[in-house]
Amino acid sequence: MTDREAVVTALAAIADPSGGGDIVASGRVSGVVVKADGSAGLVLSVEALARDVAERLNAAVELAVRRVPGVTAARIILTAERDTAPAAADVRTGPVPGIRTIVAIASGKGGVGKSTVAANLAVALARRGLSVGLLDADIYGPSVPTLLGLTGRGKLEGKRLQPAAAHGITALSMGMMTDPTKAIIWRGPMAASAMMQMVEQTDWGVLDTLVIDLPPGTGDIQLTMAQKLKPTGAVIVSTPQDLALIDARRAIAMFGEVKVPVIGLVENMSSFVCPACGVRTDIFGHGGAAAAAEAAGIAFLGGIPLDIAIRTASDAGQPPAAGEGALAEAFAALAEQVAAGLGL
Ligand SMILES: Nc1ncnc2c1ncn2[C@@H]1O[C@H](COP(=O)(O)OP(=O)(O)OP(=O)(O)O)[C@@H](O)[C@H]1O
Ligand SMILES: [Mg+2]
Repeated sequence: MTDREAVVTALAAIADPSGGGDIVASGRVSGVVVKADGSAGLVLSVEALARDVAERLNAAVELAVRRVPGVTAARIILTAERDTAPAAADVRTGPVPGIRTIVAIASGKGGVGKSTVAANLAVALARRGLSVGLLDADIYGPSVPTLLGLTGRGKLEGKRLQPAAAHGITALSMGMMTDPTKAIIWRGPMAASAMMQMVEQTDWGVLDTLVIDLPPGTGDIQLTMAQKLKPTGAVIVSTPQDLALIDARRAIAMFGEVKVPVIGLVENMSSFVCPACGVRTDIFGHGGAAAAAEAAGIAFLGGIPLDIAIRTASDAGQPPAAGEGALAEAFAALAEQVAAGLGL
């Protein structure tokens, strides 16, 4: 593949914000050149896009081009015939304006690594050139600020919440709005309406996908979310342990009832490789998740190893999916399957 072809291939992974496939297929990109010194240039039409949408698309294109091996610089020329573009809110393709797809990350049991998988999946999807938001719907035990290393408070502009940007994604969590040292005591319906506000009254801009990290279980918040937001799909996280799998089946059944397609089951804390001796141990058993997925008639999306590096990096606010190596590759492989499941 020539450098030019590699650039075009990278651009073809970016969805057109106004729908109709990717930006190459929809004709937004023209005049792609890669010079001998590695500098790339192209013309990007931002016709009929609101300004913030155009800026995001420009940033996504620049990032995608710069990531192509051999490319040293990117020059993007923006063109638009008209300057009266419709507002971002006009890009209505799903239940929430501007948000093209929603993927809910759920589990029956707590502590199986939903939040870790959700945050790293979001980062890995963004590394594919998609515009990704992450909503921490765990109102009572928010963990996204820790996972992404967010320290600031959420900002309010007018009546709209502003998400934080980190590791190539935008994110919002109740942890950005409350005092982390104080317990949050809300009744179920209040927590559910807080979550809806965080989806609908936030300036997400145009997103290819919003990843929602759900609290554990199949309660009020999960049901409200599934019914009102109509996610494009759900990803179930489980450990290989029998107990966790029984609860995963409950979560699968809940999404079945509200007619949200389950993209598949991820086995987290799969096998453990001893950092000292290199011996692989299946602490929670092995193969259970693949068997449970098959029994439930859903896809098995593979495993994420139990690795101390995931815990330490997560605690340090450095998602492993943003780095290099085997862990980043495991999350990239997961993101590939989830993107396909979402039709992205
Ligand atoms: N694959 C892994 N390897 C090592 N540690 C992991 C792995 N996945 C998650 N952890 C660690 O396990 C703990 C629980 O993970 P996490 O908070 O993501 O679970 P959760 O399912 O979201 O929990 P809750 O139900 O409380 O929301 C964290 O300390 C996290 O760093
Ligand atoms: Mg969690």
